[in-house]
Amino acid sequence: MKHLRTSALAMACCGLLFNAPSAFASKDDDKDDDKKKKKTATAAKPVSPRGLMLANTCVGCHGQGGSSLGPATPTISGMAIDTFTDAMKAYREGKRPSTVMGRLAKGYTDEDIAEMANYFVTQKFVRVAQKTDPAKVKAGKKLHKDNCEKCHEEGGFKDEDGSSILAGQWLPYLQFQMADFNAKKREMPEKMAKRLNAMIKDNGDKSLEEVAHFYASQQDKKAK
Ligand code: HEC
Ligand code: HEC
Repeated sequence: MKHLRTSALAMACCGLLFNAPSAFASKDDDKDDDKKKKKTATAAKPVSPRGLMLANTCVGCHGQGGSSLGPATPTISGMAIDTFTDAMKAYREGKRPSTVMGRLAKGYTDEDIAEMANYFVTQKFVRVAQKTDPAKVKAGKKLHKDNCEKCHEEGGFKDEDGSSILAGQWLPYLQFQMADFNAKKREMPEKMAKRLNAMIKDNGDKSLEEVAHFYASQQDKKAK
């Protein structure tokens, strides 16, 4: 019973979330406002049979609904439409380093990507408990608060403005991404680069590992 009520509440809450951006629009300039409206409109579209069929080909690696069984394949459930689209196009154009996605993404048109984005955004991010180091998690939590929280909101649970969901993401995947960012193999926003470089300068290379452990350890919203 309790379960049923919780999911009804979650649905009510999501309805609110989809409507939310317009409430905050006054703070942003017009361009941002337009972008958010577009995102909301796309998110509301029902998933097409073709979208579902295409997304099914990703299950072998990314898991049911995009929730991966790890360890180097990220969970892609719940990725914001823009984040998903940017990632697929960056792979396709060889702008983002990869082991398999670069080759794979070449097989999809912009329309295919849009159909799949529309599917994955509706899927629940299912987190699997991972072994993390408590001392690193503790240090990483502070580093996150000081350097990363502005964009990776709510302990990394929220994909706002293309930042991806980090909470409960697979540790090896996070470690690879941090290494790629640090080696300048993967592009990041200028402001993130500033924060990341400052973090490493003040806390050493070990801080990359600590933030990765913190995000990987995040299982429950209350835990943050
Ligand atoms: C053979 C396994 C495999 C298949 C099949 C696969 N992926 Fe991936 N995917 C990966 C791996 C591994 C990564 C990490 C990047 C890399 O090394 O290629 C990844 C990364 C991604 C990311 C980036 C996630 C993030 O957090 O930025 C997206 C988006 C993605 N895949 C979408 C898809 C979609 C959509 C499909 C189906 C059309 C698909 N993948 C099929 C293995 C796979
Ligand atoms: C100014 C906003 C901003 C700040 C500050 C920021 N990030 Fe990011 N982060 C982003 C965006 C946007 C992306 C998506 C990058 C892309 O286009 O590939 C991202 C991507 C990432 C990813 C990869 C996610 C994935 O699914 O592949 C990791 C890991 C990450 N950030 C960690 C951090 C850490 C650690 C910090 C603090 C040191 C930080 N970020 C600070 C905006 C930010």
